[in-house]
Formats: sequence, C-alpha cells, structure tokens
Amino acid sequence: MKKAILLIVFVFQSFLVIAQNGLELRHLQCEMLTNPLGIDVLQPRLSWQIITDKAEVEQIAYHVLVASSKEKLENNEADLWDSGKVESDASINVLYKGKKLNSRDDAFWKVKVWTNKGETQWSQTALWSMGILSYAEWKSTRWIGYNQLFEGDTIGQFSKLSARYVRKPIKLEKDVKEAKVYIMGMGLYELYINGEKIGNQVLAPVPTDYTKNVKYNVFDLTNKIEKGENVIGAILGNGRFFAMRQEYKPYKIKSFGFPKMAMQLVVTFEDGSKETIKTDESWKFTPYGPIRENNEYDGEVYDARMELPNWNKTGFDDSKWMNMMWVQEPGGFPEGQMTPNMKVMDVIKPKSITETKKGTYILDMGQNMAGWLQIKVKGNSGNIIKMKFAESLKDDGSLYIANLRDAQVTDTYILKGEGEEIWEPTFVYHGFRFVEISGYAYKPKLEDFVGKVVYDDLKTVGTFECSNPTMNQIFKNAYWGIRSNYKGMPIDCPQRNERQPWLGDRTTGAYGESFIFDNQTLYAKWLDDIKFSQTLDGGIPDVAPAFWRYYGDGVTWQGAYIKVADMLYQQFGDKKAIENHYLFMKKWMGYMESQYLKNDLMTQDKYGDWCVPPESLEIIRSKDPMRLTDGEVLSSSFYYHLLQLMKKFAKIIDADASDVADYDELSERIKTAFNAKYLNAKTFSYANNTVTANVLPLAFGMVPKELEEKVFQNMVHEIEVVKQGHISTGVVGTQFLMRTLTNFGRGDLAYKLASNTTYPSWGYMVENGATTIWELWNGNTADPEMNSQNHVMLLGDLMIWYYENMAGIKSSEAHPGFKQIIMKPDFNAGLSFVDATYESSYGSIKSHWTKKKNKLDWGVTIPPNTSALVYVPTADVSKVKINKQNLEGVSKHIKTEGNHLVFELKSGTYNIAVK
Ligand code: BGC
Repeated sequence: MKKAILLIVFVFQSFLVIAQNGLELRHLQCEMLTNPLGIDVLQPRLSWQIITDKAEVEQIAYHVLVASSKEKLENNEADLWDSGKVESDASINVLYKGKKLNSRDDAFWKVKVWTNKGETQWSQTALWSMGILSYAEWKSTRWIGYNQLFEGDTIGQFSKLSARYVRKPIKLEKDVKEAKVYIMGMGLYELYINGEKIGNQVLAPVPTDYTKNVKYNVFDLTNKIEKGENVIGAILGNGRFFAMRQEYKPYKIKSFGFPKMAMQLVVTFEDGSKETIKTDESWKFTPYGPIRENNEYDGEVYDARMELPNWNKTGFDDSKWMNMMWVQEPGGFPEGQMTPNMKVMDVIKPKSITETKKGTYILDMGQNMAGWLQIKVKGNSGNIIKMKFAESLKDDGSLYIANLRDAQVTDTYILKGEGEEIWEPTFVYHGFRFVEISGYAYKPKLEDFVGKVVYDDLKTVGTFECSNPTMNQIFKNAYWGIRSNYKGMPIDCPQRNERQPWLGDRTTGAYGESFIFDNQTLYAKWLDDIKFSQTLDGGIPDVAPAFWRYYGDGVTWQGAYIKVADMLYQQFGDKKAIENHYLFMKKWMGYMESQYLKNDLMTQDKYGDWCVPPESLEIIRSKDPMRLTDGEVLSSSFYYHLLQLMKKFAKIIDADASDVADYDELSERIKTAFNAKYLNAKTFSYANNTVTANVLPLAFGMVPKELEEKVFQNMVHEIEVVKQGHISTGVVGTQFLMRTLTNFGRGDLAYKLASNTTYPSWGYMVENGATTIWELWNGNTADPEMNSQNHVMLLGDLMIWYYENMAGIKSSEAHPGFKQIIMKPDFNAGLSFVDATYESSYGSIKSHWTKKKNKLDWGVTIPPNTSALVYVPTADVSKVKINKQNLEGVSKHIKTEGNHLVFELKSGTYNIAVK
C-alpha cells in the first residue's frame, strides 16, 4: 500500500506543520484544553484529529505513548503509559490508563493511528502537566492578605477598594532548569516575574463560590526566572470575591472578604534539586498603587500619578510597604482550572465620535460588546478623564443608562502628565456600545480609542450564512451576545448591576452556543458550579455559583443542570459530564419529587414562561392569563422531559438497574396525570392553549400518538392565524419551538418566525438597530427596570435550528460528539442557500447548499473517522448524483424514508446534486 497521506492535527500550543513522508503533524489535546497545565483529574482524556485529503478514512487502531520526559518519548520509552496497539475507532476522549500520576508530573505524549487507508507516523509530541492533587500539599502554603480598609476604601452600596500590590524578592542559588507557578489570587490577580506580566489572560481566575472551590492557575516560568535575584509581583483585584454591594442586600449577595492569595513556585535546578517558594507573612504589599478602585459594576479608578515604577523588579525599595498577614483560607477546595481564562479576544475601532456638550464626547463602537476601552491621551498631571458606558443613546444623543440600574459603569483615568499616556483598566469590564468621554483638553480623535472585546478564550467553531439577510444579522447578533456573556461562567448580561449565571437562560442556549463556540470546558466547569451549589437536601439554586442566594425550586431553570450535561454528551461525546453529576442530578430529581409532586404533577414553578411578548409594549411582565402558561404545566412537562434524560443517562453510565424502571414508572404517571388534567381532547389543545403549553408536550413526546398531529395543527393555527406568524413564547417555550415546527413538517412556519422583521421577532430587534439579542421582545419600548439589550436567553433553540435543520449539521444521538452526523436540511423551509461550517472534535464539517428551480446543489464535508447519514428530498435514486456518479456507486446503504432518500457517506468532500 502506498504511504497514507494522513495528517494528524494537534490542537495544542504552536501550530507546527512539518511535511514528512507525506505526513503533516500538528496538535493534540488533553481534556480538550489548548493549554493543559495543571490538570487535576487522575485519568485525563486524550483526543486527536486525523486530517487527510483521502476519502472514507476510518481509524481502526491507535497507539498512545506517554513518557515523563521529552527525551524518553523521543526514544519511544513510554515509562508512564504504552497503550500498545488498541483496536478501536476512538479518537476523542480516550482515557489515560497508565501509571498513577503524581502532583506536578509532566506527561509527554504522542499517538499513531492505523486506518483503513494506511497508517500514520507518530504524531508530534504534546504535553500536559498535573496540578496539585491533594489538599495536604497546600498545607504549608499560607493564604496571605490584609483584612482592612485603607484610605479611600469604603464599604457600602458602592463599595470601593484599591488594588493590593504584592511583592516578594527571591534569591536562587543555582542554575534553573525549569519552574512552574501555581497561583490562587482572589478575587482577581495579575502575576509578574521580574517586571514581566505572566500570561495573556485577564480577569483571572474564573469565578467560583470560593467557599466551595477555588481555582488555581498554572504557568510555566522556565526562562523567566533565573539564578540570582528575582521578584514575584502580584496585583490583587476584587472581582466577585470582595463582593461589591454587600451592604445593599447582604442577605442576598454573597461576599467572601478582602482580597487574598496563595501561591507555590516550584523551581527545578540544573542539578536536579528542587525548591518550593510559598506565600507567607514575609511577602510585602501596598494598597497605595495606581488602581484606586476596581469594581465590576461601578468601574475602575486609575491614578497614574500613583504609579510605582519598577515595583515588580529587583532593586525596588519596599521598606515602606507593609507585610502581608496570614489570613483564613477561603474555604473552598483548591482545584486546577480546566477551562481557559478570559482574554482580550478581539479589538474593534470606534465608528464615530460626536461632541454633545462642550468637552463631552460620545463614542460609538458600532457594536454592543463586553470588554473595555483603551484610551490615548495627553495632558497635565492631575487631569481627569472619565468614561461612562451604555448600550444605547437617548433621543437627545446622551447616554441611556436607566436600564443599568445602580451600576455606575464609569472608568476614571487621572493623568501623570508625561506626554502620551495609554491606558486600559485591569479588573473591570463593561457591556456597552457607546462611551461618554469627558476631561480631554482637546478634541480626541477616533484613533485615540480601541474597544477591547473580553471573554473566555474559547475558539469560534461555527460560521453560518444563508440567503436571508435578517437571519444572517440575527446570527451575528447571537455571536456577539454569546461572546459578551461568557465570563468564566455564562452570565445573563454584561452591563447592569446583575451579571449573574442564571440557570434558565442557558438550559437550551448552551446547546445552540456549542455550534458557534467551543464551549465544552466552560460548561463542564459550570456543571461543577451547579453541583457545588447544591444544598445537602438536594436543592439547586437559580444562579450558580450562587452569588445570589436564590433557591427558588423551579424545574425549568434548575433543569439546566441535566440539559447542559446532555448537551456536553451529545455535542462533545463527553460522558464524564454525566458520570460526574449523575448522582447529584438524581438527588435533585428526588428532592423535587418529594417536595413538590402532588397528584403526579409537579406543582412548583418560579419564573413561568419568562418574558413572553406582553399585552402592552411598555410593560416587562405580562399579566394576561391568555399569554401566560400555568406553572404546573411548565414544571410537569419539563420534569417529564428530564426524567427521559435521566433514563438515557442511567443507561449510558450503567447506573442501578432500578433507576431506569423508576424513571419509567414516574414518567408514565406524570404523563397520564398531565394529559388527564390539561389535554382537551375536543379542542386538541393543552391548558389555556398558549403555544408554549402545546409545544412542550409535543416536543417531549407526551401527546397520545393518535392526537399528536391534531395538537400540532392546533398549535400551528395559533401561530399562523391567531398570532399572524409571530412569536408568542417566552424563555421556556422558545427552547423547543423551531425544532418542533420543523420536525412535524412546518419548517416553513419556523422560517417565517426566523425571518420576520415585525414585532415580536428576532428580526424586529435587528430592524430596531440591535447588534446583540435583547432581554425582552419589546426591548425598545419596555420599562428600563429589567431591559438589557444584551441577553441571550430569547434565542431559545434558534441557533440549533440554524445548524441542525437549515444547514443539516447535527450529531446523531446514537453516536454522539459528531461521530455520526445527521445531514438533513429542510430545503423547503424558504431559504435558497445555506453555507455553514462547524469545527467538531473530529474536524471540520461543512454544508453548503443552493436550491435552484429544479435542482439542488449540495456540498458537504465529513471529517475523517466519522460518517454521515445524508437525507435528500427525493425518493428517486436516479435523480441523485454524487460527485457526478450514480448514488449506488458511492453509497451502499440507501434507504427510503417517506419522500426522502437516506444514505450513508463516509468521510470526505462530496458534491451532491439532486434534480
Ligand atoms: C435575569 C434573567 C433571569 C431572570 C430570572 C433576570 O433578572 O436577567 O436572565 O433568568 O431574572 O427570572
């Protein structure tokens, strides 16, 4: 056999491409992380990609080598794990099964695969390193801080606390071979070694409930630290730790105390000996640095006159600085952070600058975004530049800030007066499109400002374009909305005094987002946040981490725990999401059953079908009983749906045999009671016949089979005739609307909803200038009290529908993680072309179709080691050509399903033509 032309892709560190015997090698992933330092699971999962220009490639075996050093691996001396040749088609989430790994171990690894088209060479080497695996190993590392207010600090509704500047000179006696640092800096930290900032992360670490778990970050400091004098510097900001507004509603908002840190620096010398430097009371600090205030909601105040030149380098005189004190640890278990920190992910240039009153300017970024503004300014020492942020403008051209509630959202820069000064904040972010700027002694130019877009360092994995411009703009708005709200946890909105990780906003949203962002690690972390916030009796809060102590006991919000785990399994083949959480989910399901199941119906619901289009354009919450869906209808049907998922999970992880039977038995009871009470068999409608009341039982398979079509037609009538082709659902109903319409054969009506531009619709937001997604369908007219312009919850299942139903990119349930792809676009919904790509764990999936009068042209790309079930809208085999060949010549598995042909294609790029 000819040498195979296979490439292995390593999505890790540098993007190295080496051409070698027709083989090109790039990246590997461990735990799906691009930078896997500080892994603290004992059995990490390894993934790789095969890239090739050959078609129909299937992996038949792999061989993984893991060694404790690069040299050993090069010599194929796999002292940690030699998997041997394993006959398997698994190329993602392959469990490490080697020697037990210890804290701080490095593991170098490579892989080689055999395919039906030949074998690859060994891949490039990749690395992961273990974190600190036991609590005991942190024992002699002191948490240090200073639990006191200093001049300028206040606690109140608008708490102010300056950043703490921390420094520690260290002397190393020997030549350094390598060094790693493990840092916990609460709430937020910046780390410096000899004056150089370590890493390009911002606002690190990711927030958690610090009484439950605390994330440490790990950095490789090799070549940054050397024999002789070195200085470790850190700046501590507040983040969610020193919670702002703790005086505001102390019973509601959790606060964790003053900033603090703990750190270990492990240095390995050339002679093989090691030294560990740990935080203790000898470290010094000052609260009198330039960051005078930093508050996520209110903004940062930076006085450049108070800068401390060279504070983080050797030779600085810190004799006037104070010693840090030993302080209580936050209480949470130290965990390696397995999801990336935030980063400046994008920069945008403002579109215009307008003077409103003398010396005050409004800057328009042209896009609602989350992040901050970098400014360039010249002036005298003590000049004050103020920047206030908002999402929109009032009619008179000034900032519209009523919807921010009491968030002050103002950054202040005080000049030192030394020529051109460039500044951006460190410990805050804002949600904004417009900035009001004052304090310039001259008219600033557009070039003086740069918008920095800040969110979790998660790769964009999806693109989508179609023949409908409104749908394209909605996609862009969704993209900007989602990236605005990834802040180490998925938050509701980035601008007002809230910014909370509400569960209900992401129940289905997480799934749609996964087509656009590689959000696996973020949502895996979020499941932990939810788990950690569970009460001993099983309750789950409405926001997790529970920075707000809201334990409202609903089903539709809390159900996110189960729905997001299902998403991780379905989209990423992530079985751990189920294994790690199953018992906690089961406990919550049991808790809800014991507390709230009455007469086989789930009686408790907190938020209803939140944010339905209300009866008047000015109000936020509808009071109209014909628009609102009964809480028991929502909770009971949703709980039924969750029982089906629990049953699926129980089978996946081989849970107790009785579990499946229990879920079945309870589901049946609920279904019976639900239909008995709410199904009107004469009108074929549920409850008060809202679209939500009908779509949920339809989507969840609760409707008696013989009535399904009738109930569906009744719902269609409600949407098409009564609502004249408009949305009438809120956060809950919208999660199932688009797919249910399409699955029951009315993709055209779903398309109408997606492409509408009149109220209420996503397109109406676009028509009214939205560049993100609003919190309310009537966001342009409603009361500002609860009216963010950058919320993603109303997306419902729209993004899923874009990819699965319009592009035809869907992972099969039987072979999750896109091992098998279901390619079944609805070509008749109303679009004439779609061009979509999705970067799956296996590689790039593409679907590009164009429909002309009597002809369909469809280009698909199916990544190696996967296959697709392709649906074309004809039952006549002779009408289908694949790469100009007859269908039978290309696929051996052809079936007819209704008026569709269904056939299997193995990996490769195909042109499908249907006459
Ligand atoms: C949040 C929502 C959240 C809701 C719960 C709002 O204030 O912004 O996104 O889900 O409250 O009712």
